[in-house]
Amino acid sequence: MAKKQATVFVCQECGTESPKYLGKCPSCGRWNTFIEEKIIEEVDPQDTRGRVSLANEVSKAQPIKDVKIEQTGRVKTRLDEFNRVLGGGVVPGSLVLIGGDPGIGKSTLLLQVSAELNQVGGVVLYVTGEESPGQIKMRAQRLTISDTDFYIYGETDLSLIVDTIEKIKPDYIIIDSIQTMFHPNKDSVAGSVSQVRESTALLMQLAKTNNVSIFIVGHVTKEGNIAGPRMLEHMVDTVLYFEGERHQSYRILRAVKNRYGSTNEIGVFEMRENGLREVLNPSELFLEERLDGASGSAVVSAMEGTRPILVEVQSLVTPTAFGNAKRTASGLDYNRVSLIMAVLEQRVGLLLQNYDAYLKIAGGVRLNEPAIDLALAVSIASSYRDTETDAKDCFVGEIGLTGEIRRVSNIETRVNEAAKLGFKRIFIPKNNMEGWRAPEGIEIIGCVTLQEVINQVL
Ligand code: TYD
Ligand code: MG
Repeated sequence: MAKKQATVFVCQECGTESPKYLGKCPSCGRWNTFIEEKIIEEVDPQDTRGRVSLANEVSKAQPIKDVKIEQTGRVKTRLDEFNRVLGGGVVPGSLVLIGGDPGIGKSTLLLQVSAELNQVGGVVLYVTGEESPGQIKMRAQRLTISDTDFYIYGETDLSLIVDTIEKIKPDYIIIDSIQTMFHPNKDSVAGSVSQVRESTALLMQLAKTNNVSIFIVGHVTKEGNIAGPRMLEHMVDTVLYFEGERHQSYRILRAVKNRYGSTNEIGVFEMRENGLREVLNPSELFLEERLDGASGSAVVSAMEGTRPILVEVQSLVTPTAFGNAKRTASGLDYNRVSLIMAVLEQRVGLLLQNYDAYLKIAGGVRLNEPAIDLALAVSIASSYRDTETDAKDCFVGEIGLTGEIRRVSNIETRVNEAAKLGFKRIFIPKNNMEGWRAPEGIEIIGCVTLQEVINQVL
């Protein structure tokens, strides 16, 4: 077999390759991101590496009515929040990437998941390249899972890891983290784009041919990308992000890509002394610290995947001290805030142009769906007029450019959640009034324009 030594320059941000050094990446536009990486390529005309057959037999085209659906049988852990985000459990043979800031709790989560999967009878191999097996054991003791018998393996060389996998034949593999893994065929440093890509490709092949489920931990860079290159996300079946504020105790697991389920599902956890605990009713948690009778506060019944959650939108509108008005939005899309403020000015007549506005979703959740518009508008107007909103009111609705309130999805689920948490009134789009049954104990108010809602509540 002929061996060819080659070097390429690879953009460390987006993975673009070039035969010569470039100052600026033509693909992602960043400067000074190219690094020379060596590749030792085996040139072999019959090379079939990278071609993975999903079925054991030779594949062929067939009429859709003859295609058999294989029951993959998801494996459920006792962590319901985790199952939900995956789309109902762990799919055999799937490759899942879990990204998040360092220290957010990825290793803790996967250690608990390992114990759970071990509990339901699978062989689990936890490969750690970040901490020593001893450190992992100490952590496992804190989590009170140290007497389970899943395997811990402190190694970063993928060829040795593959050998071990062949010996142990695990059903589940955890790779913590992909940035520390090293593929001996590649002559570049661990964590570089080609290493990460090559290692992931190998793991993908392992997962599909041996029907093992593999979880890969990936650190997020300052820009918010997993492992720098975006292409890692395209290679795996499922991408989960583990997020939260460092200084607060709860964490949100979010699916951003899922071949086996819906995206936008979230799982909520709380970081305790002895590990992560599930939060089964996040609405209560998010509304816990809400003040009664405050101005600039409005609650929305928002959907996160299939689940409704109630969250508080807070605004503070104050006169601008000098120059241009300042607007900030945390947990919200800035453009959405600008749009709502423009509608409030033009259609409701609030003179906001000389006011600074600070908006925040309490509790550090991120919301990005149109149905939050109405709560946003009410919260801004309430702060502007310094008039408190009723703490038992809840708002749902998209706002159009003429100030009309537009229909939203899943209205029944949203209203039920508000009723369950003791809200007395919910303002919803008039067009959403028909075709479903309202729960007891909550008054439902159908609205046509923003003006009319503001007049009624403030
Ligand atoms: P870790 O799982 O190591 O994060 P990652 O793998 O994402 O880098 O989480 C580390 C943090 O979690 C650390 O700051 C300590 C905290 N922690 C707890 O509060 N309770 C616990 O039981 C454990 C294991 C960790
Ligand atoms: Mg870790």
